[in-house]
Amino acid sequence: IPVDDFDLVIFGGSGDLAKRKILPGLYRRFVAGQMPETARIIGAARSDYSDDDYRQVAREAVEEHVSEVDQEVLSAFLGQIHYLAIDAKGDKGWSELRDLIRFEVINAFYFSVAPSLFGDLAERLHSNKIADKNSRVVVEKPFGRDLETAQALNETLAAHFKERQIYRIDHYLGKETVQNLMAVRFGNVLFEPLWKTHYIDHIQITVAEEIGVEGRGEYYDKSGAMRDMVQNHMMQLLCLIAMEPPSVFGSDAVRDEKLKVIRALQPVSNHEIVRGQYDGGEGLTSYREDVDNPRSHTESFIALKVHCANWRWAGVPFYLRTGKRLKARSSEITVVFKDLAHSIFEGDEARHRNILSIRLQPNEGMDLQVTIKEPGPGGMRLIDVPLDMTFADALGPDNDEIPDAYERLIMDVIRGNQTLFMRGDEVEAAWAWTDPIIEGWQERGDVPKPYDSCSAGPEDAMMLMHRDGRRWRDIK
Ligand code: BG6
Repeated sequence: IPVDDFDLVIFGGSGDLAKRKILPGLYRRFVAGQMPETARIIGAARSDYSDDDYRQVAREAVEEHVSEVDQEVLSAFLGQIHYLAIDAKGDKGWSELRDLIRFEVINAFYFSVAPSLFGDLAERLHSNKIADKNSRVVVEKPFGRDLETAQALNETLAAHFKERQIYRIDHYLGKETVQNLMAVRFGNVLFEPLWKTHYIDHIQITVAEEIGVEGRGEYYDKSGAMRDMVQNHMMQLLCLIAMEPPSVFGSDAVRDEKLKVIRALQPVSNHEIVRGQYDGGEGLTSYREDVDNPRSHTESFIALKVHCANWRWAGVPFYLRTGKRLKARSSEITVVFKDLAHSIFEGDEARHRNILSIRLQPNEGMDLQVTIKEPGPGGMRLIDVPLDMTFADALGPDNDEIPDAYERLIMDVIRGNQTLFMRGDEVEAAWAWTDPIIEGWQERGDVPKPYDSCSAGPEDAMMLMHRDGRRWRDIK
């Protein structure tokens, strides 16, 4: 079903994100028939491109990032793309943009630029009477680097736009399996009654990456895994797992519940955190080489044990772990249920647990480990088998391409659906929880533990669970 007609202006239209995600995502939606024929994408940046120059940029971006491209369809898509040279800090291009925009359709402005330019863009969109009360702005992370800077950014945007006009992207929320978390929890009678401290022993969230910092050293070395992944993506996953059922699947109802989770998170003490930094070896460079900072104390890995102090989760630890240059790209949420209150079986047969694992990527799907009798005449021996649902199998061969997070999110902007976007107060609450942890490291001069590239992270991360009598799932 096509969305309503729109003009989408991408500031930073020739930047990395536009090329890797935004333009290829829009192309896929075009192929799916979701982009109206009259909709327009307007790239805006400093370079003096013509429409055709920019179409060439878009063509290359789509060809590089989309697996099968139909040239005829691509040409039709490019026909809906335009370009305008604009100066975020000066006057150039703004009156042309006002003339170009169609005010009778949905206008969305994607700020795919450094956050330091958000204020300039917002201000000029207003002073040039380009944005009005129906316009939408889309902003990317990093949304601040601590509570103070996030508050300042929120204030800057709020000076010109209402909260209902602001779409803060966390691309994890656009991932198919992440959305599925809500479907699994709130669309089945099976799980929700068990989703609490009485039945759940602990929850693990792992987001493991194989890649290192990949040429983003300058940004990453000032951020580290805590700011880059935990404050946003991991926090959002935690919220979706831990939140109370919202009364409806609506943007404020969902976000109100997520906010309550973040506010219920307890401060994390030092011995419940392990920071790591990857070493080189076997032809691979070390973190310090990658960021060109031989004395860097920034973490490329973090594991932590988190408690959510509320009625549902009292006493249930959430173990979070994320890192770069680990042995596989594998993101998974694992819910480990408690032992049976009483088993009628004896010895080893009594020691089986249900485990629900939700694979975010790759090989998206979920499986539930259940205990059954081992087939055969050998008496009542119990084994664990997975009830496996790999989405690609379940959806069939025509549906093997799981949509990229950005596709879904950009279309949600046009539809005016904010459910999968972060609200300003959520972002601030997440920083309020993260800030003291980071400040603690700075005060103590904390040094991350080295770990081998292609490993599962520092040994201490294993200990974080071992000493509680638990263990991480393998990264594979
Ligand atoms: C980004 C981080 O937000 O998410 C990157 O800045 C990280 O450091 C990336 O690699 C991971 O996203 P995905 O979709 O590949 O899991």
